[in-house]
This record gives sequence, C-alpha cells and structure tokens, in this order.
Amino acid sequence: MTNQLYTDLTQIYDLMCADIDYQEQCNTAHRLFKLLGNGGNAYLDLACGTGPHVEHFLGLGFLAHGLDLNGAMLDRACMRCPKASFFEMDMSSFRFREQYDLVTCFLYSMHYCYPEENFRNALQNAFNALKPGGVLCFDTVDKSTIANDEGIKHHCIFEGANFEFQSRWAYPGQGDELSLFIDICRTYEGEQQFWHDQHRMLAVSVPEVQALLESIGFSVTVFERDFSRLIPWGSESGNVFIAAVKAS
Ligand SMILES: C[S@@+](CC[C@H](N)C(=O)[O-])C[C@H]1O[C@@H](n2cnc3c(N)ncnc32)[C@H](O)[C@@H]1O
Repeated sequence: MTNQLYTDLTQIYDLMCADIDYQEQCNTAHRLFKLLGNGGNAYLDLACGTGPHVEHFLGLGFLAHGLDLNGAMLDRACMRCPKASFFEMDMSSFRFREQYDLVTCFLYSMHYCYPEENFRNALQNAFNALKPGGVLCFDTVDKSTIANDEGIKHHCIFEGANFEFQSRWAYPGQGDELSLFIDICRTYEGEQQFWHDQHRMLAVSVPEVQALLESIGFSVTVFERDFSRLIPWGSESGNVFIAAVKAS
C-alpha cells in the first residue's frame, strides 16, 4: 500500500490533525473500557501514527504500546512518548506473545487493511492480542454513507508558512474500494508547494464489520462516532465507534 505521504509529511502530520480532540477520543475509549473491560492496564494502539493516543493513555497510568507500518511516524511517536514501546509492523499480519487489555485504532485507520482478507486478519490479530475480558475500540465509516463531497478543510500557520489541508473520501457506489484523498498546499513568501495523495482503503458497511467481529468471537456494541457523549448507534449515520469485547 502507499504510505509515502506519511513519510514525507511526518514533520507536519500533527499540524494536519491539529483540530482533532485526541483527549476526547481517549476519554471515550477509556470510559468504554471501564464499563466493559477487565480492569487491566496494558494498552496497544494500532496504526498509532505519531503517538497522540499512546501519550494520553500513558497519562492515564497505562503501560502503553503503539504499532504502525511507518518508521518515520514511529520515530516521532518515540520522541513524544519515551516511556512507551513501539513496533514497526503491519496490523494485518502482526503476532505478539504479549497480550493487552485495551487495543484501539483511531481515525478510520482500520480501513487501511485492504482487501477484506487483510481487514479480517487485523481484527483477528487484535482478538489474539487481547487478554480475556479485553476490549478493542475503533472507528469506522459505512460505505453507503460516503457523501463524495469536499470533505474536511482547515488551515494553519507554521514557521511562517501557511498550510491548507483537505481530506475527503470517495466511493463509486459499488465494489470494495474506498479512496481517501489528502491535499496539502504550503505557501511561503509567495511560493506554493503541493502534495496530493490517494490512499486505497476498504469500503465496508457497519453491519458487515459487526458480523466479522462476531464471527471472530467478539461481543460487539456500536456507538455513534460522537466523542462528546456515548450514544448507541441509531443505524442511520455512517460514522460509528465500535467496542468489541473478548469474553473472559
Ligand atoms: C491517518 S493516520 C492515523 C494515525 C493515528 N491513529 C491518529 O489518529 O492520529 C494513519 C496511520 O496508519 C498507518 N497505517 C496504515 N496502514 C497500516 C497497517 N496496515 N498497519 C499499521 N499501520 C498502518 C499509517 O502509517 C499512519 O501512521
């Protein structure tokens, strides 16, 4: 898969995500873990990127670990969280002897596991990596609700340069391929620099994800992807946050 953008833009990745409330995301996963989980403190974040969630869970007293395919992202994560451990691995194929109480995967990163066999393998690997009573939390988007619109835009100033970011989904209405487009424009002293990247991701529906998780052995609860409160999924919105529990 193409992962080059994350290597090229590691320096400004955190700027691109400046509007994300990581604390709120972590608080939601932590709250669900306290409600549904086994009370342990071993944490693993899949596709951890530069480590924002790992940092928060360290702060909550967890033994925190991160896994990512991209070494440049992990270098930043290591600098950010010297007390955590990081693994440069593909979540579709990782195997650990150690097990964890809480495993997360944020920012729709589970969809990077393409095709469906890889997606299934990632969920199975997460199941294997959990202790009894452990919880997997991740966000996902339903292919039937992709708006094919302009997506999310924001801008910021960094070291005197103006950065404009745009990320959007595109789904042709059939098939298993969802595209994520990321466009970045940096303007400095009148000169512009552009990055354009397309990521192939898996298009799935929420009921398909739920059925996959249950076939692996998880008990599944689906919530709206609203990190300000816990609301059971009403089956209309396509953005959800899933809590999947491995029986104790
Ligand atoms: C959009 S970033 C999200 C990073 C982080 N979860 C966050 O919320 O800021 C996606 C991350 O997924 C990683 N990634 C993509 N495919 C992966 C795979 N198969 N296994 C592990 N990491 C992967 C990329 O390297 C990148 O760091």
